[in-house]
Amino acid sequence: MPFRRKKITIIGAGQVGATCAYIAASRDMGDVVLLDRAEGMAKGKALDILQAGAVELFDGTVRGAADYDDTAGSDVVVVTAGSPRRPGLSRDDLLAINAGVVGSCCLEIKRTSPEAVVIIVTNPLDAMTFVASRELGFPRERVLGMAGVLDSARFRSFVAAELSVSVRDVQALVLGGHGDSMVPMPRHCFVGGVPLTQLLSPERIQALVERARRGGDEIVNLLETGSAYYAPAASIVQMAEAVLRNQRRILPCAALLQGEYGVSGLFVGVPCLLGGQGLEQVCEFELDETERAAFDHSVTRVRALVDDLARLGL
Ligand code: NAI
Ligand code: 2OP
Repeated sequence: MPFRRKKITIIGAGQVGATCAYIAASRDMGDVVLLDRAEGMAKGKALDILQAGAVELFDGTVRGAADYDDTAGSDVVVVTAGSPRRPGLSRDDLLAINAGVVGSCCLEIKRTSPEAVVIIVTNPLDAMTFVASRELGFPRERVLGMAGVLDSARFRSFVAAELSVSVRDVQALVLGGHGDSMVPMPRHCFVGGVPLTQLLSPERIQALVERARRGGDEIVNLLETGSAYYAPAASIVQMAEAVLRNQRRILPCAALLQGEYGVSGLFVGVPCLLGGQGLEQVCEFELDETERAAFDHSVTRVRALVDDLARLGL
């Protein structure tokens, strides 16, 4: 089929899912299907996005659905279904609620889009990606979690604001689990090619690191009724686009580690080469003593969540 368009399905038409559908459609990334158990909401938002195309001039089709048969043969499937964080409800509290949702979505994805690359977004991210991988049974190349792109974007935006420079010129990397144990890597942050460590004092860098770690909470506390969605959606689309357009981007993603960084059998945020096949390579580099300690601590937190899944029989 030489003229077959790419197909991207987004499960969950809430704040993150619908925003993701809008950005994906506006970039002409392919045909977008927005699925939610609330059928009217999925169809209504899809129609609204389609009509925005007449003004913003994008051509992709956007369809709402509640039936997984409408998503069949997707190249990329994004899972945002589940409950968002709320004030007083930690990512970890969401474990039990969202494991059931993600598990059931993945059984349907396996049936209808067995060749898809699946990007999990639902929190708690590292544990939900683990659940998804178990239910899908796909090779590790085709199951990824989105968090590192978002966490790095937050760190980059704080650095850019602090130095009053364009965020385009700030490169940064955040590794580890998606939570307050995440590991921003100041030693690997560059501003216009200059190491951040030469531009800011250790105290200022530490303050930005802490703000990035609490970046999700800061927004939850301000919104009061939900969690962030614009930057998360943009981050998902960056990953999906790397796959759909075979861009071979190096992006921090939650990937199933098989010995890399000394970890096996867990999804943890690491730099990944993303291309047409999904995860093409986990990029390994040496961590210094401080980074290693922070990364290991973060892995311990991810492992604890996965152990909780087993303890709760999820
Ligand atoms: P939301 O509540 O606005 O949307 C969730 C949607 O999922 C709702 O429309 C709901 O009807 C739908 N849904 C629930 N169960 C379903 C099922 N079984 N099948 C199909 N649809 C179902 O929540 P929001 O703000 O869009 O967040 C979604 C998830 O993404 C949350 O778990 C949130 O914590 C997570 N998140 C993760 C981020 C990350 O960096 N990994 C960043 C931002 C949000
Ligand atoms: C965030 O970091 C809620 O995990 C989500 O904004």
